[in-house]
Amino acid sequence: MRRIAVTALALLAACGGDVPSRPPSSPPPTTDARSGGGMTVDDATSKAFSRPGPNLSAERLALHTAGDAVFEATFVPAPAEVNPGLGPRFDNVSCAGCHTGDGRGRPPAAGEAFNSMLFRVSLPGSDAHGGPMPVPGFGTQLALRASVGLTPMAVVTVTYTDSSGTFADGEPYTLRVPHYAITDPYRELPAGVLVSPRVAPPNFGLGLLEAVPDATITALASDPDAVDAGVAGHPNYVWDAAGQHVALGRFGLKANTATLLDQTAAAFNADMGITTSLFPTEPCDDDIPACADHAPDLSDDLLHAVTEYVRTLGVPARRKVDDATVQHGEQLFAGIGCARCHVPTLQTGVVAGAPEVSNQRIHPYTDLLLHDMGPGLADGRPDYLATGREWRTPPLWGIGLTAIVNGHTNFLHDGRARNLTEAILWHGGQGAAAADAFRRLSKSDRQALIAFLNSL
Ligand code: HEC
Ligand code: HEC
Repeated sequence: MRRIAVTALALLAACGGDVPSRPPSSPPPTTDARSGGGMTVDDATSKAFSRPGPNLSAERLALHTAGDAVFEATFVPAPAEVNPGLGPRFDNVSCAGCHTGDGRGRPPAAGEAFNSMLFRVSLPGSDAHGGPMPVPGFGTQLALRASVGLTPMAVVTVTYTDSSGTFADGEPYTLRVPHYAITDPYRELPAGVLVSPRVAPPNFGLGLLEAVPDATITALASDPDAVDAGVAGHPNYVWDAAGQHVALGRFGLKANTATLLDQTAAAFNADMGITTSLFPTEPCDDDIPACADHAPDLSDDLLHAVTEYVRTLGVPARRKVDDATVQHGEQLFAGIGCARCHVPTLQTGVVAGAPEVSNQRIHPYTDLLLHDMGPGLADGRPDYLATGREWRTPPLWGIGLTAIVNGHTNFLHDGRARNLTEAILWHGGQGAAAADAFRRLSKSDRQALIAFLNSL
């Protein structure tokens, strides 16, 4: 096995500049630090994910700022003068409570409650639109907090056990395997309920991802290089509640949401118990008085502002693009097949009303497609066309700033990986060959690959 890896890399080196006939898998070093095109922000501080794109018009910037205030706002149960409408059951009191610094959440430390992570639930089968089948009394998400006087839907705890392995050079490693327990359900939780733990992902650059044409994404699904290597992904198709039609899914960890408007309105509804004209029903039973009141808690104007806020968050510029180790790491990233799924470069189309995200050359390191990641990462809970083993390739831009923005380096859908190396080692299924190739790299090559990821 080791010989195969060496040969592949030797080949890569021998081909030199002639390789890039198939862009996704064999790109030249991306010395372009402008990861978000014109939406790139020069900030590598704890605010790196919270900056508007520098190319916003004054009018768009004003809307962004108005939406920012709502994104940060702490909501309280109605009636209240300011920010009413929270609950009665919810997972957090603000968008920023989970997407801290517009970045990512994490699983709780020992003794802590879940805060920036949520649990989707469903029964086997699908609803009228092909989406997950709601659990009576629970819907499709466990609300782990509740207003005074009510009990939360359930209590969830996580414990970890160790799983060890070794790199080809003999260096050992240990991964942590999560185990979840759901106790104290407020009503009977049916046997066989499917549970999907999900950490809040970063919120920047999403307007650019929304602007990538559908045709680009579907073409990546049939990219010959990915097909030949057996790692081609497929798009999700989901119900677009605002448009009232089926659309290509891009957002959510299983590409289970089509647009930022749907994603934002669904977050208000399911994560905070705040209704809007798009999702006017509280995520709880009608026997609770607050639930019977179906007047939207949040106006369309404010929903629009928060959606535009998320749409116009810029992408931090890369650091150290000229560093030789980083460039070597980037070659390895392409050489061992990471770039087949984490596609380095995409071109956005034209979005009416959002000139700042239109016609941008971006480096998100995602194909926005679903991939089978093997049994180790499986949640066993289908979500539209995503099976219980599939996840959307997450964008890797900005990932090297996670520690600075969020104070941790917990990665993957449930935050089980404690650093980038563990995130790679968990790749199974279609990602297994790349993870195996990573295990066969020398220590200095592994470090170069990580240095590259940290430059994003
Ligand atoms: C309880 C924690 C929590 C709260 C509160 C929350 N989110 Fe999220 N957010 C998540 C999780 C978890 C996901 C992934 C959801 C999925 O996979 O279905 C997510 C996904 C998203 C995405 C898609 C990101 C991507 O990469 O696809 C956006 C946009 C988003 N949230 C915006 C918001 C907004 C706006 C609010 C406030 C109205 C909000 N969120 C409130 C946890 C939260
Ligand atoms: C077959 C497609 C595929 C390949 C090949 C692949 N990845 Fe991934 N990668 C994914 C998917 C899907 C996830 C999300 C898995 C999850 O959350 O459970 C992911 C997650 C990650 C994460 C964590 C991101 C986050 O936001 O939590 C990192 C880092 C990463 N991959 C790096 C790599 C590297 C480096 C390689 C090459 C060794 C690689 N990947 C190869 C599909 C792929």
